[in-house]
Amino acid sequence: MAFLNDNYLKLRAGYLFPEIARRVKTFTDANPDAANRVIRCGIGDVTEPLPPAVIAALHKAVDEMGTREGFHGYGPEQGYEWLRHAIAENDFRARGLNVTDDEVFVSDGSKCDCGNILDVLGHNNRIAITDPVYPVYVDTNVMAGHTSDADESGAFAGLVYLKCTAENGFVAEPPKEKADVIYLCFPNNPTGAVATRGQLEAWVKYARENQAIILFDAAYEAYIGDPALPHSIYEIPGAREVAIEFRSFSKNGGFTGTRCAFIVVPKDLHASTARGERRPLHPLWLRRHTTKFNGVSYIVQRAAEALYSSEGKAQVAALIEHYMGNARILREAAAAVGLRVYGGVNAPYIWVSTPPGTTSWQMFDRMLGEANVVITPGSGFGAMGEGWFRISAFNSRANAEEVARRIKAIAW
Ligand code: MLT
Repeated sequence: MAFLNDNYLKLRAGYLFPEIARRVKTFTDANPDAANRVIRCGIGDVTEPLPPAVIAALHKAVDEMGTREGFHGYGPEQGYEWLRHAIAENDFRARGLNVTDDEVFVSDGSKCDCGNILDVLGHNNRIAITDPVYPVYVDTNVMAGHTSDADESGAFAGLVYLKCTAENGFVAEPPKEKADVIYLCFPNNPTGAVATRGQLEAWVKYARENQAIILFDAAYEAYIGDPALPHSIYEIPGAREVAIEFRSFSKNGGFTGTRCAFIVVPKDLHASTARGERRPLHPLWLRRHTTKFNGVSYIVQRAAEALYSSEGKAQVAALIEHYMGNARILREAAAAVGLRVYGGVNAPYIWVSTPPGTTSWQMFDRMLGEANVVITPGSGFGAMGEGWFRISAFNSRANAEEVARRIKAIAW
């Protein structure tokens, strides 16, 4: 008899974004006239074409693959050296941060990396997550058996929930209790909040004192415009010993459909064996990555490398400017109708309060039914997200302007 993984049965029926897609389909099937009017500001999926530097690199790599000399079969699982070098050099060493090429591991996405990292961590860790939170951190821990069942609010016993509210600016402080693994995401998905240097220093201090590990998701770092805000956890002294950083080309280079990301596992980062010995995690991640993954395709890695060329950097900057222009338009529209608005300044997500007495899912239905706009209900990100909704700035300018008009037209 084969047994299934019972932990999956603890999960809510569907992952948040497929559930939203299902509800949108139900709506458009029932209202075919509205189907063409629907504008999607739900999932944070980029809309603008790939940068020209990327397209040129893709064409060149495809042509190389058609020749005997330029053909590439299996590549190094961790990523080609030239890409790892470009990443470490441009994203870290150019900012004065000590990251070596071989601490960079290229992958097919941050979502996968966030889930896969659990392979090299023990099962007895006390896991801390913020609430609201990117659901992948929670669900992958549930799947791995790190929690008990969920209560009515959807909170899983066994996790430490760090409440993020308007009062703390949606940036949680380290808890009084002990946690061994902490997920932090800045700029934050879903709230758009960004931790200051001082706030990250407090987290690094906490991790060092508790021999904990911070899993730092910086997938949206390119959206930080304020020069005082840190882009990387490694800007905080001592972070190399306690933090793994997740980065992605999805939201800067528009790679959501192209797929390329990376994580940094510093060689100074240690964790305890069951017998209490401190051992580095880097060799374990290398072992995991080379055993379970065959690398990102040569063509896509060449495309990612092109993002670091001078044209590539300028084109990425233009994309960010475009999406942040949308963020401003959407933020101002929500504020103009009297809603409380956060985020959207150094992040592509706008976090908006629902009107009093309206739940997040009721707001989702209203926005879809009355404005034909898809948003993400805040409660889908955790119990503390109830009473909020998220608007994604990933869209064309025309759509962002139209959404702003429709928000203002609703009878609030
Ligand atoms: C989101 O909308 O939260 C993101 O698209 C999720 C992701 O990047 O996986």
